[in-house]
Amino acid sequence: MAETMKGLHRSHRCAEVTKADIGSEVTLMGWVQKGRNKGGIVFVDLRDRSGIIQLIFENGSIDEAGFEKAGKLRSEFVIAVVGTVEARSGAVNPNLATGEIEIRVKTLRVLSEAETPPFPIEEDSKTREEVRLKYRYLDLRRPDLQRNLMLRSQVATLTRDYFTKEGFLEIETPTMIKSTPEGARDYLIPSRIHPGEFYALPQSPQIYKQLLMCSGYDRYFQLARCYRDEDLRADRQPEFTQIDLEMSFVDVDDVIDVNERFLARLFKEVLNVEVPLPIQRITWQEAMDRYGSDKPDLRFGMELHNVTDVVKNCEFAVFKGAIENGGSVRGINAKGQGSMPRKKIDKLVAFAKDYGAKGLAYVAIQEDGSLKSSFAKFMKDEEMAALVQAMEGEAGDLLLFAADKNKVVYDVLGALRLELAKQMELLNKDEFRFVWVTEFPLLEWSEEQNRFNAMHHPFTMLMEEDLELLDTDPGKVRAKAYDIVLNGNEIGGGSVRIHQNDIQEKMFEVLGFTKEAAYEQFGFLLNAFKYGVPPHAGLAYGLDRLAMLMAKEDSIRDVIAFPKVKDASDLMSEAPSPVAQEQLDELELKIHAAKEED
Ligand code: AMO
Ligand code: AMP
Repeated sequence: MAETMKGLHRSHRCAEVTKADIGSEVTLMGWVQKGRNKGGIVFVDLRDRSGIIQLIFENGSIDEAGFEKAGKLRSEFVIAVVGTVEARSGAVNPNLATGEIEIRVKTLRVLSEAETPPFPIEEDSKTREEVRLKYRYLDLRRPDLQRNLMLRSQVATLTRDYFTKEGFLEIETPTMIKSTPEGARDYLIPSRIHPGEFYALPQSPQIYKQLLMCSGYDRYFQLARCYRDEDLRADRQPEFTQIDLEMSFVDVDDVIDVNERFLARLFKEVLNVEVPLPIQRITWQEAMDRYGSDKPDLRFGMELHNVTDVVKNCEFAVFKGAIENGGSVRGINAKGQGSMPRKKIDKLVAFAKDYGAKGLAYVAIQEDGSLKSSFAKFMKDEEMAALVQAMEGEAGDLLLFAADKNKVVYDVLGALRLELAKQMELLNKDEFRFVWVTEFPLLEWSEEQNRFNAMHHPFTMLMEEDLELLDTDPGKVRAKAYDIVLNGNEIGGGSVRIHQNDIQEKMFEVLGFTKEAAYEQFGFLLNAFKYGVPPHAGLAYGLDRLAMLMAKEDSIRDVIAFPKVKDASDLMSEAPSPVAQEQLDELELKIHAAKEED
């Protein structure tokens, strides 16, 4: 039967006890990691979130009844012990912070017994994630997840400290708001008091933080929960957290300055990693041309080469056709991969096709300088030589080419570059390479909708020098928008906002909103702008993504206490779930999509 902890007070966490405490008495509480009964002596590893310490129960140091109880301890029992810190009698354990000491226990209380858990509570669990997520409260006992959540907490604390010291105010904004169809799909909340009407959960605090600037708060930040009903991936959750901020009377450089000093402090204090400032900046166009991606991973080279001019007169129909259609031919040089077996190259071709390529042309330069190529027969020798030279090809290299519309070529080679880096083991998780990507296009043409969409959001300011293009060639207009990218992940993004009503109205017009529709949706923001609005700009980080990279994990689920899986459900609580008919009746809702019976 469970005992109480009456009269006992925990004096330390397990791993807080050190050699300096030898000789003193401590009171510890935690979970039994494992016990070993060696006849006259019982050893127990006691665990809490700080780590593990060894307990020793010896008949004589503890009374008979206590010794008997110790022999019956099983994994995950919760116990309290009082004992004396001693130097280890047996072998020192160099893998434990407390490896040189142990606690000779004189009092033991079993606070809670435990059934055998469905999987062992251990580092680097081999148990399937679905099982671990069903029992997330047990999974969260594992040391790696505990370290991740402690790191995340440290990031949050430091964020608050940094921005507060920089003169930012922490202000909360509502999470029941008006639905706006821009961006991802909204999660909706039905209203009982207004049947048939809905709130939306915010996709971000964007409009509210801009209103706070209108209201004179100057510098705002918030650790804001955001909700987006979109397809999930390893770096996306339906609910996630932003470090969200906004500043008045600033331009691009001011936002970048305050944020890169933040990142430098964060990485120094949490990981002891130096982030050299200023962080490199490249324009969106340059990022696409050199890396085929607007979130380039700069931990390795393998840059794209534009060889359109080099091959423009050749007879290879694939290259010729792409160029005639206004596209380009570009390639990457996978250094030292020239002896890649044909089967593996075919896999790369299939990979490229997944990203929209019609094929992937290659040249494998053999060690003797001869070429193996999928298209040599269509090329003159001197054309091939010029191509190899343009690609800086040397003996032993593998050159891969995509020919298509620019967008397809970028997508394919950008993805291929990363895939090759993985295969060639060029990605080091201990290395942190930041880059600002600037001057994004303002607008993105949607073939489906046959109109422009805002690439960032409709409140993003354009570059002043491109103002005239808004009428003549909107697709060419560049925005005052910037992303902060870390090791190929977009960890944050933001922009200077439009604060002039005429430009904002023009923007809505280009996006295909009538004035009425714009006011219907964003009237409160547009009206606020009529009463004196400061120039303002801001940014939001994905806190989960940042924590994931800092914890050197591959999935944001590993830095979120209770995450959802790919289909947006929670395997532990089984949300979402049907609700009682009375709840639906109160909301005046009818479920239409009844499941079809077979
Ligand atoms: P944006 O939509 O780029 O900008 O979001 C900012 C950052 O939030 C993170 N993020 C996500 N993280 C986890 N799961 C998701 N589903 C998810 N979606 C986005 C990314 C991203 O860089 N209001 C603007 C910011 C601004 O202009 O100030 C915004 O929300 O790391
Ligand atoms: P084909 O003449 O279609 O057999 O193609 C010859 C080579 O060109 C093959 O290696 C194809 O994979 C490759 N290829 C086909 N289409 C493209 C393309 N759009 N870009 C690059 N290579 C291609």
